[in-house]
Amino acid sequence: MQNRKARIAVLVSGGGTNLQALLDAEKSGIIKSGEIVLVISSNPNAYALERAAHASVDAVTVSKKAFGGQEQFEESIRRKLTEYQIDFIVLAGFMSILSADFTSRYPKRILNVHPSLIPSFCGQGFYGLNVHIAALEKGVKVTGATVHYVNEIPDGGEIILQKAVSVREKDTPESLQKRVMRLAEWKILPAAVEKVCAAFLEN
Ligand code: GAR
Repeated sequence: MQNRKARIAVLVSGGGTNLQALLDAEKSGIIKSGEIVLVISSNPNAYALERAAHASVDAVTVSKKAFGGQEQFEESIRRKLTEYQIDFIVLAGFMSILSADFTSRYPKRILNVHPSLIPSFCGQGFYGLNVHIAALEKGVKVTGATVHYVNEIPDGGEIILQKAVSVREKDTPESLQKRVMRLAEWKILPAAVEKVCAAFLEN
């Protein structure tokens, strides 16, 4: 039986439903090769912080404003990651872009969940509800979610898992967002985390 688990930090900015999916997956044993030991929020009012507290997971806020700029902001994140001996960083609705300097320090150690089938509706400006507005404007019949590694190109890193979701004629951006979360994001994010943590422990 293995005792060692990969140590995971989840970076959030808002509601944290993907964080919740990860916490639930750890509890139910879907994630068995990793443990969430730290939550970092870029927003002091993020509901995700309450989810972390409820699960008794340590949580900190690092706000760009308070730190006076990108460099200090990233440095404070890095300090926390080192302090908690983090193996994997999961961006779960984290709305700040991380610099190439930051991402290059953690090759294949940062995962992100994006609410479309990359390479559609991704990159600069495509985040949150905007992604679903763009998908409906384009009239695509299928959309979905992607979990990928993070590198210096926004949404450009290697794809780990994807799941398709059908668009309905009466969909609004909000209804589509909810369905993509429920049917795709909340399933493939825990699955991808388990996949990379299990592979990490084998090496
Ligand atoms: C999710 O839909 C996530 O995929 C998206 O923001 C939402 C966060 O919700 N992320 C991006 O658009 C990143 N480019 P949550 O806080 O409830 O997990």
